[in-house]
Formats: sequence, structure tokens, C-alpha cells
Amino acid sequence: MNTNSGVESLGRRLRLGVVGGGPGSFIGSVHRSAALMSEKYEIVAAVLSSNPERSISAAAELGIPRSYRSAREMIESEAALVEGIDIISIMTPNDSHYEIACQALEAGMHVICEKPLTTHYHQAKSLEARAEKSGLHFCVAYAYTGYPMVRQAKAMVEAGDLGEIRMVQCNYVQGHLAEISETERSGKNWHMLPDIAGDDLVVADIGTHCYHLCSFVTGALPEQLSADSCTTVPGRKATDYASIQLRYCSGARGSLWITQAAAGAEHGLYLRVFGSKGGIEWHQEYPNELLFRSLGRPAQLFTKGGPGLYDIANQATAVPLGHPEGYREAFATLYNDFANAVINTIKTTQQLQASPYPHIKDGVQGVRFIEAAFESNRGNGMWVDIEPKITACY
Ligand SMILES: NC(=O)c1ccc[n+]([C@@H]2O[C@H](COP(=O)([O-])OP(=O)(O)OC[C@H]3O[C@@H](n4cnc5c(N)ncnc54)[C@H](O)[C@@H]3O)[C@@H](O)[C@H]2O)c1
Repeated sequence: MNTNSGVESLGRRLRLGVVGGGPGSFIGSVHRSAALMSEKYEIVAAVLSSNPERSISAAAELGIPRSYRSAREMIESEAALVEGIDIISIMTPNDSHYEIACQALEAGMHVICEKPLTTHYHQAKSLEARAEKSGLHFCVAYAYTGYPMVRQAKAMVEAGDLGEIRMVQCNYVQGHLAEISETERSGKNWHMLPDIAGDDLVVADIGTHCYHLCSFVTGALPEQLSADSCTTVPGRKATDYASIQLRYCSGARGSLWITQAAAGAEHGLYLRVFGSKGGIEWHQEYPNELLFRSLGRPAQLFTKGGPGLYDIANQATAVPLGHPEGYREAFATLYNDFANAVINTIKTTQQLQASPYPHIKDGVQGVRFIEAAFESNRGNGMWVDIEPKITACY
């Protein structure tokens, strides 16, 4: 990672404790490898599973020196150590984020938390208030914002290269739930259970990424949305499809197509933003390229590490031009940004610095988006005010 400018040296690695992400989990090894790729962390403590025995044995297998039987035990024990953890990273199912994050903040630990931040908006707001009061850093793992070409898109919008933003479209079209699996049928897939995952499942699971990506790149939040969510696969209870329209106070419009049930589709995350002068297109399946088309000029294909990029894109690049970078590197960029912010705070005891990692306010906005989409869908797609307080105009 190159994002080290202006960062003081700590003279040691940051001590990281992880909660969740045990054997067989999807995101656990992504977080751990991201922390190690940034070269600023050592993973010294873990609660890898909700099963205490499995937690201890999995930590031993990964060579993590201190393992615990629960998040509470880890937080209390580490807080009592002179060289206890600086940062906790939470990658458990959605309904447990709130309690663990509250305990960590209370104990003076900086927090990295998976999305969605919580399963209820009032919890998200309470967590935001606690984080602000504590003065600690809090990152929500919207990792797609760590891709160099997503940062290039953001910089291009900020520089006015696209002109006044008029249209945003984000598709997240996955196919892994095109059929009902045995784990889903037997009720063992927590991702499909509203009590654990949140009310509108497809929106909570991947829609929130789209929403954040749109606001990260455009720098604006919509003021209203209209949502149509449903279940397309017969026999399924959870939602697997959503179409959401966004209205911005500038007059711009947005459109999100979110599904996990498109048979044959792979990951399908695709962002398009158009302004008065031109537009960009980015596909996560080809993450090192960004297409820019503008009025009266030839199309331009920007490539990671290539010419013509803004600093923010180059700073998120770990290896030179022509060497592909992907999902884990994007995650590592978030970990790197977060480490820099924490190190600055430890070294200088200054107020929280501006940093490109997704902050707790982004997590709160994500939870409000899920709630508003649920409300709109229940009202047959009625337009719902997302929340005037968090709406920003161009
Ligand atoms: N940012 C992203 O791109 C991204 C991608 C995938 C998942 N996620 C998020 O990551 C989180 C985990 O998702 P997953 O797909 O990896 O789930 P998973 O079911 O595959 O893994 C969850 C892991 O957490 C452990 N666990 C559960 N409760 C625990 C507890 N109380 N203490 C300690 N460990 C506990 C389980 O044993 C398991 O190892 C979710 O919030 C999900 O939304 C984010």
C-alpha cells in the first residue's frame, strides 16, 4: 500500500483482535489477510467462533497467540493487559455487531465492523453517539471503496470531470441463490433469517454496498427512495430481488438493481455515473479498469497504476501497472487507511483525522437505507424520505 504520506511511525505494529471469521466463514480470512497485507497489524487475539471450543482450536491452528471463548471475555481481558489490543475487528453475523462494538468502545478500543453496522437504526444511532463520545476510530467494512479505480471515479466526480451529476446506476447481480440450498431449506443459513440478518435480506446483504458505493463516488446522498423487493425463487421466504429508485435533492436520479438469484450470474457489481459532461463505468469483475466517456471526445480507459490517475487512486495501489489487484487488496487498503488514522491519533493525540476509510456515519446511513427500503416496499413502493438530517446536496 502506498497510503502512508504524513503518517508518523509507531515503532511497532498495531495489535488487532478479531471476533468471528472462523473456519468455513466467508469473510474471516479476507479480513485477516487484509490486515497482514497492510503490514501495520499483528493479530494477537481472537474469538473465531460462537462455539468456545472451536474458537480456541481454530486460533491455535492459525497461530494466534491469545484466544478467548467469547467477545466479552476477549475485550475485558485485553483491556486489562498493558499490551492489549488497540483495535477490534468484528466479522460476526449482523445481529451481534451492536453489542460487541458497544463493549469494545467502552473498553477504549478502535473498531472495524462488518456491514450492515447493525440490524436496527436506533442501535446504529446509539453506536454513532458512543463512537463520537469516545473519540475512537470506527470503520465500517464497505470494502469496495478500497479499489483504486473506485477512488479514481470519486476523484473525477470531485474534480468536475463528469460535470454536474445527473444519473447514478448500481447493479449488484449475483447468482448464488438462484436455487434453494439444503442449508437454506433447513433454516441453517443465518443470511436468510430476518432476526439475524435484518428485515429485507437482499437489501441488507448487498444493497447496502450499492448505496454506499453511490454515495462514496458521487459525494451525495439521496433524499428519497422507492423500493420494490420480492422473492423470485419459489419456496423461499427471504427477499432475493430489489429494484430501488433514488431521488437526489439536486434533481439527479439513481437506480439500484440488487439480486442474488440471477441464475448463472457471478458477482455482478457494476457502477455507472453520468453527469452533464460525461460518465464513468466500473465493473468489479474487471476492477483494474475504469471507462470514461465524455461529450465530443474519444473514450478513455483508465487502468490501475496507469497514466492520468488522481493521487487518491495511486495511493490505493499496492503493486505496479500490469499486476492485477482485487478484492483482498481493496480490503487491505481499508485496513491501511484505518491503521494510519489510528497511528496518527496514538502518536499525536490529535482529534480524529479525515481519512478515506468508511466511517461510522456511513454505516448509520446504510442501516437507514435498509430501513427506508423496507418501509417503502411495505407501502407498495411509496416514496420514503430517507432522512433529512443525513441528506447532502451537491
Ligand atoms: N464487506 C463485505 O464485502 C462482506 C462480505 C461478506 C460478508 N460480510 C459481512 O461479514 C459478516 C459475516 O459474514 P460471513 O458471510 O463471513 O458469515 P459466516 O456465517 O460465513 O461466518 C460467521 C463466523 O462468525 C462466527 N461467529 C458467529 N457468532 C459469533 C460470536 N458471537 N463470536 C465469535 N464468532 C462468532 C461463526 O462461528 C462463523 O465462523 C456479516 O455481517 C456479513 O454481512 C461482509
